[in-house]
Amino acid sequence: MTQQKTILRALAGERQDVPPIWMMRQAGRYLPEYRATRAQAGDFLSLCYNSELATEVTLQPIRRYGFDAAILFADILLVPQALGADLWFVTGEGPRLSTITAQRDFDQLRDVADIHETLNPIYNTVRLLANELPSDVTLIGFAGAPWTVATYMIAGRGTPDQEPAHALMQENTPLFEALLARITAATIEYLSAQIEAGAEVVKIFDSWAGSLKGETFEKYALAPAREITAALKLRHPHIPIIGFPREAGEKYIGFARATGIDCVALDNSVDAKWAAEHIQVDGCVQGNLASRHMVTGGEELVTETRQIVQALSNGPHIFNLGHGITPDANPDNVQLMIDTVREGA
Ligand code: CP3
Repeated sequence: MTQQKTILRALAGERQDVPPIWMMRQAGRYLPEYRATRAQAGDFLSLCYNSELATEVTLQPIRRYGFDAAILFADILLVPQALGADLWFVTGEGPRLSTITAQRDFDQLRDVADIHETLNPIYNTVRLLANELPSDVTLIGFAGAPWTVATYMIAGRGTPDQEPAHALMQENTPLFEALLARITAATIEYLSAQIEAGAEVVKIFDSWAGSLKGETFEKYALAPAREITAALKLRHPHIPIIGFPREAGEKYIGFARATGIDCVALDNSVDAKWAAEHIQVDGCVQGNLASRHMVTGGEELVTETRQIVQALSNGPHIFNLGHGITPDANPDNVQLMIDTVREGA
């Protein structure tokens, strides 16, 4: 079967003269239309669970820019909430959750089979999007990787060095591993349900993979990604998977082969030429313009964008940022990036 959608062609390993493009956090606070819909919803979590409004904000950057992919509007912390953690967002600070530091906290979590009760509105958003997206736009579902999700569940918030999670790993390894196993199992069911609702690709965000060194990277970043991938490929063999072991550095090498994912997303600490040589040889890569260019723009944005496109032009590539776009970004710079990527077209 020949793929028509540019994103799916890249994920199948096809080199294209103009790489397809989307952007992490493309629906977000830098867009006035997002801020308006979020105000209508009341708060961020209400927006995530309101299928109509979540569909609307997912479509906004597609309408404005014509990206090649739409990413479901939701959050990686909905899985902890579905497992029974309390979750709220403090304006200007970020997420807060009830913490998991002892066996009794873990024992209060819900069974994996019960997560859909909370997450059904998300599957409904996927169904609405599958109906409403233009036929050339690919729908990407996602979840957080077990390690990254665990860092928030253990600490109850974002932490710069993930120290509480590392401490639990050392001090109570069985509890830490039981938590990781629960999140892994929930993630498989969550992503499977997104696929059944119409997601054509899924992405696993391991934003804090970079703080796992040596053997812990193999055990807690690589192994869970492999387990999730194997389970999904068994149920949905034709659905491509993007992995994002952010800040993995040299551990990016061989990550796709070792886990079975179809594409690795590169953060912007990775040199694109180095990536072409060491990572793209295994298949599709995604990335990796620094998000700050969406704030600063200008000639530097154009030069950097061209360099990345050029460096990765000999193999399958999906153009993206190295991390999410920030709220202080200028929407015009996003257009400049897209025009630069597509200038040869
Ligand atoms: O990429 C997309 O547009 C899809 C939607 C998406 C969101 N969060 C929406 C969001 C995705 C894929 C995520 C992933 C996510 N969420 C990650 C992994 C990727 C990464 O950025 O490293 C993490 C660690 C989270 C947890 C999270 N959600 C934090 C730490 C915060 C607060 C920080 C912030 O930017 O304010 C969020 C909130 C959040 N998730 C927003 C959005 C658009 C901002 C909420 C708002 O509107 O106020």
